[in-house]
Amino acid sequence: MAADHTAHRHGGDPAADFQRLGLAPRPVLDFSVNINPLGPPPEITAAWNGWCDDIHRYPTPDGRGVTRYYEERFGLAPASVAAGNGSTELIYLVPRALGLKTAAVATPAFHDYRRSILVNGGKVVEFPAMAGTEEEWERKVVELLPRAQALWVGNPNNPTGRLIEAERLLNLAERFPEKWFLVDEAFIQFVAQPENNSLLHPSRLRKNIVVFHSLTKFYALAGLRIGAAIGHPHTMAAIRRHKEPWSVNLPAERAAEGLAAATDYELSSRQLMAEERKVMTVFVRESPIMAALAPTANFILARWTATPDLDDLLRGMLRRGIHLRDARNFSGLADNWFRFAILGVGENERLRRAFGELAGEVR
Ligand SMILES: Cc1ncc(COP(=O)(O)O)c(C=O)c1O
Repeated sequence: MAADHTAHRHGGDPAADFQRLGLAPRPVLDFSVNINPLGPPPEITAAWNGWCDDIHRYPTPDGRGVTRYYEERFGLAPASVAAGNGSTELIYLVPRALGLKTAAVATPAFHDYRRSILVNGGKVVEFPAMAGTEEEWERKVVELLPRAQALWVGNPNNPTGRLIEAERLLNLAERFPEKWFLVDEAFIQFVAQPENNSLLHPSRLRKNIVVFHSLTKFYALAGLRIGAAIGHPHTMAAIRRHKEPWSVNLPAERAAEGLAAATDYELSSRQLMAEERKVMTVFVRESPIMAALAPTANFILARWTATPDLDDLLRGMLRRGIHLRDARNFSGLADNWFRFAILGVGENERLRRAFGELAGEVR
């Protein structure tokens, strides 16, 4: 039987860190979850109260408001989309529906790729892919694929930020037609040029590729739980046969429907991220207390280098009202790794100030 992995801790739980580190809880700026700092698009918050009138009704069984978003925003036909209660629902449903018992996963990666296979009674082949070029990553994939039915890959990958070009994934899928390529694009809209990397385009659908997309992070709607799996209509028909009805609730459907029109929000979010990514990149490069990977989306993975114990950092920052993601529980990231979101201008300034104070303290 697969081990119980429900104990895995994700970000967004400052209370647990306050308790573990023996500190009295206080309000924090939460950099441990990677949510758009602009908050939900104004189109959504303005319409929110009106949706209450309809709350007695069932949503559509297949989340049609969500499929409408993909049709309007990406030109993807409803037959190519399965809507879900966050992309998490689909991350678990797809391996079940496709009967996947083995998958290759580059580490470190989002924990639930691995868990989706284990709870299906399967096994995961992990390979380290922290550093190295895209070519090296591909060589490892090619080496491991004969031992797995599928490849799980985050694009960009959480927590490393590794980005793979769309063409490279399409070539791999063509070269290995009997393998499944499960590509998680939860953070794709934060990257500088999503069109270079994203498979969310009608011309990029393939029978052996399933793309996972989230509306919770980029549109700051994590509490509403909206996401989708996208693929070739033939593949999606097989997946949809395993799908429970009504998993997208009515306000979530309404919100999704409105998101395709939020084009100004989309552009200003991407612009804000590009600017803040630049400022943060310079800061972490010069910081004497950490060594960081170059970010590509809205988060940075870094290694605490000032003392042997990451808790010194986590405690020092919680005392300053800042919560970071302890990244030591990512497979492949044993000691001293942490991750933090790139948020808005003022929040990032506050983060840099706190890092600076701590640097002065530990010297
Ligand atoms: C890489 C990645 N994929 C998918 C998800 C799940 O997102 P959601 O279920 O909110 O769409 C997360 C959440 O943290 C994530 O980090």
